[in-house]
Amino acid sequence: MSSEHDDARPTIKPRENGPLRVDGLRDLFDSRGDRIAIARRGKGNIALCRCGESHTKPFCDGTHKVIDFRAAIAGEPPDDDAASETGSPAVHVTAAGPYDVIGGIELLGTAWPGETVPGRYSLCRCGHSGNKPFCDGTHQQVGFDDPGLDTTATARDAAGSEAAAQEPADAGGSDAG
Ligand code: FES
Repeated sequence: MSSEHDDARPTIKPRENGPLRVDGLRDLFDSRGDRIAIARRGKGNIALCRCGESHTKPFCDGTHKVIDFRAAIAGEPPDDDAASETGSPAVHVTAAGPYDVIGGIELLGTAWPGETVPGRYSLCRCGHSGNKPFCDGTHQQVGFDDPGLDTTATARDAAGSEAAAQEPADAGGSDAG
């Protein structure tokens, strides 16, 4: 939570049938409010799991390919004009729920009503929303139970970073549109 990055606002881009590519994010928090260390790639981006099956949550480990995860890039933005929260850009991983995105982080590929990026919105990380990339509450029905904690730190160093190294690079090469 700082103001040192006002000139470099992060962005999020859902990859078709893949993870959320996040560029320029500094503040990623687990469900306890503890900061999750971001293993930055050369381009400064990370890949967050949105299929719900990664073994290195919240980071992508490539499992979406194994399970043949299907998800469009952009869903219908929620009609929530009240979501005008201000503050530093940050992503909070919630317990058994979505990514809580605050601070007006642009979601690339999404046409927001009025072309105004809301101060707060939620992105599905269980893989089952009917309106991906947005959360529609389905995580409760499917019993998504990931605690939203940074339990992957050790695994990420070994396996996750290897997979993450592929995802952002991949995403970077397909972002022309
Ligand atoms: S996290 Fe998937 S529907 Fe809410």
